[in-house]
Amino acid sequence: MLELLERTRNQALPEIYKDLSEAEMVERVKSVKEKFGDRLFIPGHHYQKDEVMQFADAAGDSLQLAQLSAANTAEYIVFCGVHFMAETADILTNDYQQVILPDMRAGCSMADMADIHQTERGWKLMQESFGDTILPLTYVNSTAAIKAFVGENGGATVTSSNAKQMLEWAFTQKERILFLPDQHLGRNTAYELGIPLENMAVWNPILDRLEYEGDTENIQVILWKGHCSVHENFRVSNVEQIRETNPERKVIVHPECSREVVDLSDYAGSTKYIIDTISKAPAGSKWAIGTEMNLVKRLIHQHPDKDIVSLNPYMCPCLTMNRIDLPHLLWALESLERGKVVNRIKVDPHIARKANLALNRMLARV
Ligand code: 13P
Ligand code: SF4
Repeated sequence: MLELLERTRNQALPEIYKDLSEAEMVERVKSVKEKFGDRLFIPGHHYQKDEVMQFADAAGDSLQLAQLSAANTAEYIVFCGVHFMAETADILTNDYQQVILPDMRAGCSMADMADIHQTERGWKLMQESFGDTILPLTYVNSTAAIKAFVGENGGATVTSSNAKQMLEWAFTQKERILFLPDQHLGRNTAYELGIPLENMAVWNPILDRLEYEGDTENIQVILWKGHCSVHENFRVSNVEQIRETNPERKVIVHPECSREVVDLSDYAGSTKYIIDTISKAPAGSKWAIGTEMNLVKRLIHQHPDKDIVSLNPYMCPCLTMNRIDLPHLLWALESLERGKVVNRIKVDPHIARKANLALNRMLARV
């Protein structure tokens, strides 16, 4: 809710930034970066567009960006990513540091699928059914309020590159796990750990009830009914099509894809895993990649010796990631130059303190 309110307080891009040529914007961004030097840090998620990634001081997946933010000392962090990543950066940095998201509308539809009120309501019902047997884990793709809830209840955050380790740890703490907000990452990871699908239930936050057939005593994982609207567009039919038309092409997907798609694929893993696998692959190898389109395009460009396509030929980039564009980046930077901070991300200190518990339980282990 707070996040949604904050996004409606988005300071909009002034008209004068809308008609600039790309060449001019590039020169002006370079000039501000030069002036600020080490006082400014621009982290960029791999799913961002090239027009902003060319200015990123560091590129990374969610875990790497969280680690980099925690270690960075720059006064201004202009985050090229989405809202929850900028919130994480704010939580992990010191008070003298300010985190800026050039366009507040750069949210994440998955993070929006778990609202704190639904979560508290659902938790109460789960406690009534299962007693004190559940540990909450949340994918970092969640609001600061959800991270705070998880931190307060002894749980931790996870990213796609450490979900398995974190789930293993979680089972040393409690006999059941509530996994927010991505049912697919939760299901794929638990399955990889050997938990049978019939021991996983889905929590429906709209109807406030479990979707499960069987003896509830057997439930080991409760999956929040959320998903990524980008990765859900990779379908079983896409994999079947590749198998039929191009059987020598290897299929590699992100674990935000459904269990069925992951099951049919040759490889599945985090954004970093996908990048590393493609980098190490031999020249001439053929790949169909199931992840965000800006990254797939970049991998195609960086590896001209390999034959790479998107698993879904009609795939679009993540639209909220794409809100961060060159005009917004330039405007955020030139505003700083004029002494004005636009679109600052500042997490409420009470929420930040509890969310920090969840983040640090993860960062201490990976
Ligand atoms: P990772 O960076 O953890 O792979 O997450 C992917 C993603 O969807 C980021 O929004
Ligand atoms: Fe959210 Fe999916 Fe976009 Fe990542 S790719 S920001 S999870 S909607």
